[in-house]
Amino acid sequence: MSYQHIDVKPISGALGAEIYGADLATLTDDVFTEIHDAFLEHQVIFFRDQIITPQQQVKFSARFAPIGYYPFLNGLPGCPEVIEVRKEPEDELNFGGVWHTDTAYLAEPPMGSVLYAKEIPETGGDTMFANLYLAYETLSDAMKAILDGRRGVNSSRKGDAAAGRQKSVDENPKDASDVQTESIHPVVRIHPETGRKALYVNRGHTVCFEGTSPEESAPILEFLFEHQIRPEFTCRFQWTPGSIAVWDNRCALHYPLNDYHGQRRVMHRVTMQYPMLVIFQLFQHLINAPILKYDLGDLG
Ligand code: SIN
Repeated sequence: MSYQHIDVKPISGALGAEIYGADLATLTDDVFTEIHDAFLEHQVIFFRDQIITPQQQVKFSARFAPIGYYPFLNGLPGCPEVIEVRKEPEDELNFGGVWHTDTAYLAEPPMGSVLYAKEIPETGGDTMFANLYLAYETLSDAMKAILDGRRGVNSSRKGDAAAGRQKSVDENPKDASDVQTESIHPVVRIHPETGRKALYVNRGHTVCFEGTSPEESAPILEFLFEHQIRPEFTCRFQWTPGSIAVWDNRCALHYPLNDYHGQRRVMHRVTMQYPMLVIFQLFQHLINAPILKYDLGDLG
């Protein structure tokens, strides 16, 4: 793809590109169109040295899709669309510290996320990403035949993801009782904008295949969790203050490394929703509909 307004420099053979020549605080439509093209082409894009307020982060994110809300945490005072992702020097676990796509347990998981680096440790704290198109395309035809048409059960209660968010939730809880936190999604998902197939399971949230127990699903799921993060499917981004990442949750996994104990890391995160979910949530709220639940037993 050729770009007139921005420079796009891939950071690995698999996915991820740094974008130069864009000031996200004063973006024009022409520049945004190219940023969006780069987002679809590379699955995760990065910007450096951006100085933006939470409101400007929301405005930039809303160019991609309507803004979503994280179910378990309140946002910043005065800007509820932005949640703080923070690890203090004394904390042991980091938020989201397991390979995952964001909130895959929601009925309509977010299409993407925008993460802004406020405070970065002197060393460590990188985030890794993995390309879920490649993960699907490199499976054997026989395994593709097993997975095509199959659906996966995703839950917010899997141990590593739940443990990583617990401290943030304790400090800043939000009532999630009317949110659907267990959902079934296709294991092979067709990206609505690129038409490509992606392997949509993740270690953080996927519990089993629909109609099977976690124990029955475990051998194939374990294989897929390892397969989808093969080094040649990944990239790794080293943050500096003012960096921004925009990732596509429909075709990329991410994993924030927890290798900076004793140091502080503070990020601001916004998620972008599918328009359909916003309508669905409004409808659910209006009719006070019961939320879907699966009996998955103890996932701790
Ligand atoms: C997240 O999963 O949203 C956090 C990513 C990060 O802290 O790098």
